[in-house]
Formats: sequence, structure tokens, C-alpha cells
Amino acid sequence: MAETFVAVAACATIPDGQFIKLTHNGQRLILAHVAGRYHAVEDQCSHDDYPLSFGCLDGACIKCSLHGSRFSLETGDPLDPPADQPIRVFPVQVRDGQIWIGLG
Ligand code: FES
Repeated sequence: MAETFVAVAACATIPDGQFIKLTHNGQRLILAHVAGRYHAVEDQCSHDDYPLSFGCLDGACIKCSLHGSRFSLETGDPLDPPADQPIRVFPVQVRDGQIWIGLG
């Protein structure tokens, strides 16, 4: 299925090393800016459905604040237990200073 890209934020609103949370059509998302790149992942830990936006960035990972699992912002893969399932990642494009997320 083709992705539908949606403009969600201006690049200037997310300093490098920080993230914002947003909701689109009921989907809770995290949009992170790490080392000059933007990443979009679902705002829900795969371990216990806990909001990852309560956690923090750890390099190119988001760390769940409930039990400490880290997830790659690139792949969504868990890097530490107890989580053993990936989180969903979304394609990101930057056009004209705006960040677009592919929400298929
Ligand atoms: S709820 Fe995230 S690691 Fe347990």
C-alpha cells in the first residue's frame, strides 16, 4: 500500500537531541531529531502499552521509562529486555523545512 505523507511539524520546532509527541487520526507518535535526522515511531511500548514519550532519547534510541527497554529509532527493534517485540516506525521526509510522515 502506498504511503500517504502528512506534514506534521516545521524542522525548526524540534532541536537536535529532542523529540515531540503528536497525534494523527488517533495514532500517537513520537517525532525525534537525532544527529541531523528525523525519526517517527509509535508512542507505545511493545512490552506493556506504556507511552514511550514518558521516556527519553538515548542516542538513536528511545528508552521506555517504565521498565527500561530501549528501541532503535531506525528499525523499531528492542535492544533490551523485557520488551521482545518491535515498535512501529514510519518513513519520514523533509521538504521545504517541513517534516512529513508516511502514514500508510
Ligand atoms: S512498558 Fe516499556 S519496557 Fe515495560
